[in-house]
Order: sequence, then C-alpha cells, then structure tokens
Amino acid sequence: MNSSPFDRAITTHHQNSRAVLGEAFPDRLQSILRDTDCARARQVIESWNGYHITPLHSLAGLAKEIGVGNLYYKDEASRFGLGSFKALGGAYAVLRLLAKEIPKLVGKPVSDAEISSGIYSGLVRELTVVTATDGNHGRSVAWGARQFGCACKIYMHAGVSSQREQTIADLGAEVIRVSGNYDASVHQVETDASKNGWFVVSDTSYAGYEDLPRQVMAGYSVMTSEIIEQIQHRAPPTHVFVQGGVGGLAGAVCDRLWREFGKERPRFVLVEPALADCLFQSALQGRPTTVDISEETIMAGLSCGEVSLLAWEILDAGCDDFMTITDDLVAPVMRLLARNGEDPAIVAGESAVAGLAGLAAACRSRELAHALGLDEHSSVLVIGTEGATDPDIYASIVGRSAEEVAPERDN
Ligand SMILES: Cc1ncc(COP(=O)(O)O)c(C=O)c1O
Repeated sequence: MNSSPFDRAITTHHQNSRAVLGEAFPDRLQSILRDTDCARARQVIESWNGYHITPLHSLAGLAKEIGVGNLYYKDEASRFGLGSFKALGGAYAVLRLLAKEIPKLVGKPVSDAEISSGIYSGLVRELTVVTATDGNHGRSVAWGARQFGCACKIYMHAGVSSQREQTIADLGAEVIRVSGNYDASVHQVETDASKNGWFVVSDTSYAGYEDLPRQVMAGYSVMTSEIIEQIQHRAPPTHVFVQGGVGGLAGAVCDRLWREFGKERPRFVLVEPALADCLFQSALQGRPTTVDISEETIMAGLSCGEVSLLAWEILDAGCDDFMTITDDLVAPVMRLLARNGEDPAIVAGESAVAGLAGLAAACRSRELAHALGLDEHSSVLVIGTEGATDPDIYASIVGRSAEEVAPERDN
C-alpha cells in the first residue's frame, strides 16, 4: 500500500490478559444475549418491509495491499435505507418496549403482529420513546417509532451534525439539542424521561437499565447471523476487527462468533478512536471505566465515554486485544474503499472504517502485526457499519458523493 498515513499511524495496543482462550462460550455469559432473544429478533426483523441481507464483500485487492490473506467486509450501508447497522437495534427495541407496555394497558397478551397491524394505535400514540444519540441509533429509534406509531424525542449533543439532525427530524421525531457531550445527553434523557413518564430506548446499558439494550444487541445479532451464513464454505476468519462506541455492536458480534466457533473462535480486536477510548481504558483497569470526552472525534458514532455494562461483560472475557487509532487514518481508509479497482467501490462513513483502519495500521507495524498474530495467511473480518450517513461530510472527505462512488447501490 503506497498511502503513507499507515506508516506514521499512532496506535495504542493492549492485549487483554483476562481474555478466555481456547474454551467454548462460557456458561456464565449465556444469559447476557440469549439465543431465544436473537432468534426472535431475526424472525421479526426478517419480516419487515425492505429487509435484505447486506453484502459481505471479499476484498482481494485490499487484502493483498494490506498484507493479509483474506479480507471480508460486511457492508451495512444499505440496511433498511437508514445507512447503518443501527437500523437493526433501536427500531427493534421500540417494538419490544411496546410489546411489554401495551399488554399492561389492555390487560391481556398482545402479539408483535397485533402491534405492527395498528389495532392498538390509539394507545401506542400516547406513549413516548426517547433516546440520546450521535446520529445512527436515534435514526433507528425514530424510524421504529414512526413504523409502530408512538411519539419520539431524540436528544443530541452539540457535536452532532445538522444533517444528521435533519434526517431524524424528517422521520417525525422531535429533536432536542443539549449542551455537553454524548454522555451528558444520555444523562439528560434519563432525568427528563423519569420526570415526564417517557420510555428510554437506549443502546447502552447501565446499572438498573438492561432489558432494552439487551434487545438492541439481539437486533444487531441478526447481522452476525448473516455473516456466519455468508462465510460458510469460505475461509473462516482468524481475526475480527470491530470498532467500539459503547461496545454494544462489538459485544453482540463477539458473543455470536464465540458461540459459533467455540474454542476455535477468531482473535477479537476492538478498535476505538484515541479521543473516545472508554473500552480501552476499561480493559487497562479491568473494570468499566469512564473517560471524559473533551474533543469530538471525526468518528461521530464512536464518540462515547461510558461503556455499556452488558457489552463489557462479554468483551472483558471475549475480546483479545484493544486498540486505539487517531482520526487522521479515517479519511485515507474511506478513500481507499471508494476507489474503483480490483475490489468493488464501497461507500463507508467515518465510523465504518475504524476497524479496517486499525487493521491497516497494525499490518504496517512489524511489532504490532506480530503481537496480533497477523500475516499473509490471516483471514480478517471487518464491519463497515455505515455508509454516507452524513452525505456532505462524506463528499468533503472523499471528494465525490456516495452516488458517484457507487451509483448502482443504495447507500
Ligand atoms: C456507524 C457506527 N459504527 C459503530 C458504532 C458503535 O456501536 P456501539 O456504540 O454499540 O459500540 C456506532 C454507534 O453509534 C455507529 O453509529
């Protein structure tokens, strides 16, 4: 690879001495993300209009340039037309919330199908869901609220772009701007919801709040189930590089792949922005650790200072390595993916490329590649978690719009 930013990359790496190696998925973690919840999520989400399995690209050209044997890229840009994998989580959790609350109001069991059919629309309309977001989760919750007919309020900190705000407002949600960072908006939601009787649908879990984040992760597991089917009869991954915000995505992917591959599970590497490294710091401390976000990373979806407690339990045991990368690696990787060449041109947003950027940087450092066991025989899975979720930012970085990069695709 000729691009030089990877040679100069500033990364940090921590090998997790607490990771459980060479063992099947532990019994003690079984109840965090239950098989039954994941199976139900899959059945429900597959039935939604617009569901299709997102592509798993095999990027042979880029694999060669980076120096690995195989590179799988799960491309979430087209997920339900919402631009990111988050479409699977928040919207599904809205349905789970309604499935819990409506029976209390009508005094009898109510099925998901009845809620979706609109027969309880009068009651559903009276319920308000609320969440904090840096863009993608809020968009998913707003989309779910519109689908099922409840009211929706989305809290956004000042660092979230106005285009991301508009996209959510276009779905009919009320957007409330708050000062401070993402974590401050999470706390504000908690306070306002309990004052007003609104229902928090968060993608992060904290003490006393676990049910819906669990369902959000069950929604994400649909993506991992697709990946497992897509790599059948192909070289199984030796490594997985996944980006972390609060860790919900990484936790769900780690859980499902560990269950699937057992003792032979791939080496799991979590990548975060250096400006928002709460999972990295938690790994160093061996317990959930909060970091104060003083500067916003360009990887907006990953700008979180507090880990999700549920996700942390899985990652503490199942994540082998934690890495951070600096923001300057993001644009070069977005441009690499947008190229027309041996591989298909891919539209990847700022938060989508963090895992791949971590891999590219690691492979350019002899020491780090060795520490991570990466070589030309490695088969690596990365997750392109979003497309051009802010089209203006995308075009300003890549120099072309998403439509120009991949005209035939739904970005
Ligand atoms: C595009 C994108 N990728 C990755 C993540 C990280 O997911 P999590 O916060 O569950 O770790 C997010 C979170 O919002 C995101 O929007």
